[in-house]
Amino acid sequence: MRELRSSTSSNAFSCCFRTSFSQILCSIIYLLLNITKANGFNPLIQLPTNGLYRSSSISLARTVVLNIDDFGAKGDGFSDDTKSLQDVWKVACSLSSGAKIVIPAGNSYLVRPTNFSGPCLSKVTLKKSMTQRSLLGIIMLSYLVSGTILAPRDPNTWDGLDVHKWLYFHGVENLKVEGGGIGKILGSGNEWWARSCKTNHSNPCTHAPTVTSGITVIAPADSPNTDGIHISTSTHVELKDLIIATGDDCISIVGNSSKIRIENIICGPGHGISIGSLGKYNSTSSVEDVTVSVAFLFNTENGVRIKTWQGGSGFARKITFENIWMKNVSNPIIIDQYYCDSLVTCLNQTLAVSIDSVTFRNIEGTSATEEAIILACSDSYPCKRLYLENIQIITTSNGTAKSFCWEAYGTSSGLVYPPSCLSSGDIIIRHQVNKSNSTRWREDDFALF
Ligand SMILES: *[C@@H]1O[C@H](CO)[C@@H](O)[C@H](O)[C@H]1NC(C)=O
Ligand SMILES: *[C@@H]1O[C@H](CO)[C@@H](O)[C@H](O)[C@H]1NC(C)=O
Ligand SMILES: *[C@@H]1O[C@H](CO)[C@@H](O)[C@H](O)[C@H]1NC(C)=O
Ligand SMILES: *[C@@H]1O[C@H](CO)[C@@H](O)[C@H](O)[C@H]1NC(C)=O
Ligand SMILES: *[C@@H]1O[C@H](CO)[C@@H](O)[C@H](O)[C@H]1NC(C)=O
Ligand SMILES: *[C@@H]1O[C@H](CO)[C@@H](O)[C@H](O)[C@H]1NC(C)=O
Ligand SMILES: *[C@@H]1O[C@H](CO)[C@@H](O)[C@H](O)[C@H]1NC(C)=O
Repeated sequence: MRELRSSTSSNAFSCCFRTSFSQILCSIIYLLLNITKANGFNPLIQLPTNGLYRSSSISLARTVVLNIDDFGAKGDGFSDDTKSLQDVWKVACSLSSGAKIVIPAGNSYLVRPTNFSGPCLSKVTLKKSMTQRSLLGIIMLSYLVSGTILAPRDPNTWDGLDVHKWLYFHGVENLKVEGGGIGKILGSGNEWWARSCKTNHSNPCTHAPTVTSGITVIAPADSPNTDGIHISTSTHVELKDLIIATGDDCISIVGNSSKIRIENIICGPGHGISIGSLGKYNSTSSVEDVTVSVAFLFNTENGVRIKTWQGGSGFARKITFENIWMKNVSNPIIIDQYYCDSLVTCLNQTLAVSIDSVTFRNIEGTSATEEAIILACSDSYPCKRLYLENIQIITTSNGTAKSFCWEAYGTSSGLVYPPSCLSSGDIIIRHQVNKSNSTRWREDDFALF
C-alpha cells in the first residue's frame, strides 16, 4: 500500500530556487536523477524508451505519465497555459500511483504565478521529454529537456500576489523536478531588472520574485541578489548535478532547513555555497544536517561558507563539506559569525546563532587571498566540534596560505594546509542561563571555555 503523507506548512517541501529578477536562463543541463537516498524517495523505474511521450496516460512501472499538451496547453510562448498546468497537476496529485508530468520538448509554455498544493496521493514527477543514455558507463535513464516554462514578462502580473512566488509547490512530499539537455525555466527577468532599485536608483527597493525549481542557472557575474538556488524552510532536499554561474550565492541554505544533500556541483563565478545568512534582525533560524559532497568552485568570492548575524538565535549544525576542488576562490573555507551586509555597522551582541559539528574534508585547490581558512566565531557562542581533514589550499600568487581562527574549537587530521588554528584542549561546556527571556534558550545553548 502506498503511503499517504500529509504535511503541514511547517515541514512543507518548499524548495525555492530563487533565480528571477535578472535576465535568467535556467537551462536544465544535468538531471536530478535517481533520487533514492532521501527519506521516502523511491527509485523511478523506467522502461527504455526513445523519443517523446505523446499518449496522455501510459502506465509505466505503475507510474502514470501525463502530458501537458493533452490538457489543452498550446506551448506557443504566447497563450496562457497556466490552467493546463494546474489541471494536469490536479490529476497527477490525485492519483494514488506514481505520476509524471511531461513538459514536451520544443515548446514554450507561458505560466502565470501558480500554486501547486498538496498533499498529494502520488509521488509526482514534473519533467520534460526523455531519452535514454548512459552516464559514466552506468546505464541510467536521463531526460532530455527541450521544453520551456516561461514566466510572464510584466511584473504587474504579480499585482496583489506574493512577488516571491512564481511556481510555488506547497505541502507536497516526494516531488521531483528533473530535466536535462537544453530545456529551460525562463524567469523573464528583464523588466524586473529595469525597475529594480539596484539598476535604476530612482526606484524604491522592493522584493524580488522567486522561481521555484530550476536545475542549472546562468546569470551574469555582476547581477546582485541572484542566488542560483535558494533553499528555505525545507527538509529532505537533494540537489544533484548542477552547473551554476551567477552574481550571488550559487546555492544558499537558510531558515529552518534540514536534511539537505548537495552533490556534483559546478559553481563559478558566484559567491560559492553558503549556509545563511542566519539570524538577521535578531531572528531565530536553524539549519541542520547538510552535506555538500563533490563540488568544483572557480573564481568565486567564497568557497564553502557559513554566515550568521550577531544577535540571532538558533543553530547551524551537523554540516559536512567534502570532496571539493577550488580554483582561484577568494575565501575557500569560511565561517563568519559576524556577518553584516547592512550599511550601518552591526554591533556585537550576546546572542548568536550557534555553530556546532561542521566538517571540512578533502578540500583542495587555490585561494585568491592569503587567508584560505577563516573561522571567525562568536565570543559568546564559540564554534564547537569543527573538524578539518585533508585540506590542501595554496594561494594562486606564491603558494603561502594562512588560517585565521577566533573562538573556533575542534580538531583536525590528515594533512591540513594552511595549518589548522583550531583550539583543542579540554572543552568545558557550561549551560548558559539567560536572565531576560528564558524561552529563547534551549538545550543546545552552550558556551565553551
Ligand atoms: C499562493 O499561496 C501564497 C500563500 O501560501 C500566496 O501568498 C500567493 O499569493 C498564492 N499565489 C497564487 C497565485 O494564488
Ligand atoms: C527609472 O525609473 C523611473 C521611475 O519609474 C523612470 O521614470 C525612468 O525612466 C527609469 N530610468 C531608466 C533608465 O529606465
Ligand atoms: C524558524 O523556526 C522558529 C521556531 O519555530 C521560528 O520562530 C522562526 O521564525 C523560523 N525562522 C525562519 C527564518 O523561518
Ligand atoms: C536586537 O537585539 C538587541 C539587543 O536586545 C537590540 O539592541 C537591537 O536593537 C535588536 N535589533 C533589532 C533589529 O531588532
Ligand atoms: C580570479 O577570480 C577573480 C574574481 O574573484 C577574477 O577577477 C580573476 O580574473 C580570476 N583570476 C584568474 C586567473 O582567473
Ligand atoms: C566584535 O567582536 C569581535 C571579536 O571579539 C571583534 O573583533 C570586533 O571588533 C567586534 N566588533 C565590534 C563592532 O565591536
Ligand atoms: C605571498 O603573497 C601574499 C599575497 O597573496 C603576501 O601577502 C605574502 O606576504 C606573500 N608571502 C611570501 C612569503 O612571499
